[in-house]
Amino acid sequence: MARTKIVVTGGAGYIGSHAVVELYEAGYQPIIIDDFSNSQESVLDGIKDILGVAVPCYRIDCGDEAALRGVFDQEADIRGIIHFAAFKAVGESVQQPLKYYQNNVGSLITLLKVMPDYGVANLVFSSSCTVYGIPDQLPVTEQTPTKPATSPYGNTKKICEDILNDVASVSNGAIRTILLRYFNPIGAHESARIGELPLGVPNNLVPFITQTAAGIREKLTIYGDTYDTPDGTNIRDYVHVVDLAKAHVVAVQRLLDAKGEAVETFNVGTGRGNSVLEVVQAFERATGQKLNYTIGPPRTGDVPAIYADVTKATQELGFKTTATLDEALASSWKWQQSLGK
Ligand code: UD1
Repeated sequence: MARTKIVVTGGAGYIGSHAVVELYEAGYQPIIIDDFSNSQESVLDGIKDILGVAVPCYRIDCGDEAALRGVFDQEADIRGIIHFAAFKAVGESVQQPLKYYQNNVGSLITLLKVMPDYGVANLVFSSSCTVYGIPDQLPVTEQTPTKPATSPYGNTKKICEDILNDVASVSNGAIRTILLRYFNPIGAHESARIGELPLGVPNNLVPFITQTAAGIREKLTIYGDTYDTPDGTNIRDYVHVVDLAKAHVVAVQRLLDAKGEAVETFNVGTGRGNSVLEVVQAFERATGQKLNYTIGPPRTGDVPAIYADVTKATQELGFKTTATLDEALASSWKWQQSLGK
């Protein structure tokens, strides 16, 4: 039987590449769209090594309507889209807001314009726990009120959620969507053939840790230890990227089965909060590496503590995390080592 075709925009990116692998292994035919503006061609080799087959890839910007239509013309019978393609550097978004609004919001609008013309109804969207801002209560459920974004990046996620709500709820089934609000993805595929590939100095904690342990960075600076948390450092919900990728496979199938409402939102995390210091300790424990770190001033815009209530995803999607924090960090380290210096 022919595999069901699912377009994965940003499929050469960190979460996207892991989703491509999980989709294929679950029996779907992923089709990658990526402009490689923040990813590398070598990711395709990693995917091929894992799966034993090459996954089709179109090197286009999915905000380019004519190019996007070209893909839909060529690939008949696309049944769903997972839309990862977006810029994600918080600091850069403050400096270059138009770049973020144009790319992140523009590409979603283009997709939504093109999808009905080809009878493609199903869209899974990459949202973020950033929409909760500094929450008034923990853990956050999907009902926890959203807060004004603290960066243009965060605002693009909120705006895209609003667009999808507005469009899907009046489309009479022409557009059905699942919004996945990710917490902090970490880790890499067990093969260490794909993982996070930050260009330049990493903004995120775990790539900074692994690069420091590898001797690429001199030391990690922990951004503040006087927050109102048990050890004074920020708390996040670190979810293994393969567990996160699997949530997309289930979400796609739910849309294909036309289960649930036209728009549904799910938190995807572990339900567990860990402090920055706990992550450092877990990394040292899981890898046997001693990490050079120092305490620095707080980073502007950081949320003191956030972690997910994942009851809804567990009940409705059957989502569960399998990896512990130590296992996730060990996989990040294995990936870093595979990269060399
Ligand atoms: C950030 C964004 C989030 C976005 C995500 C994308 C903010 C407030 N949030 O998440 O919206 O979806 O990136 O990847 O910017 N840390 C250090 N030292 C470092 C790096 C990080 O102490 O060198 C700390 C941070 O203060 C934070 C934790 O590690 O407490 C995680 O940071 P990071 O990986 O950047 O993710 P978020 O800030 O949670």
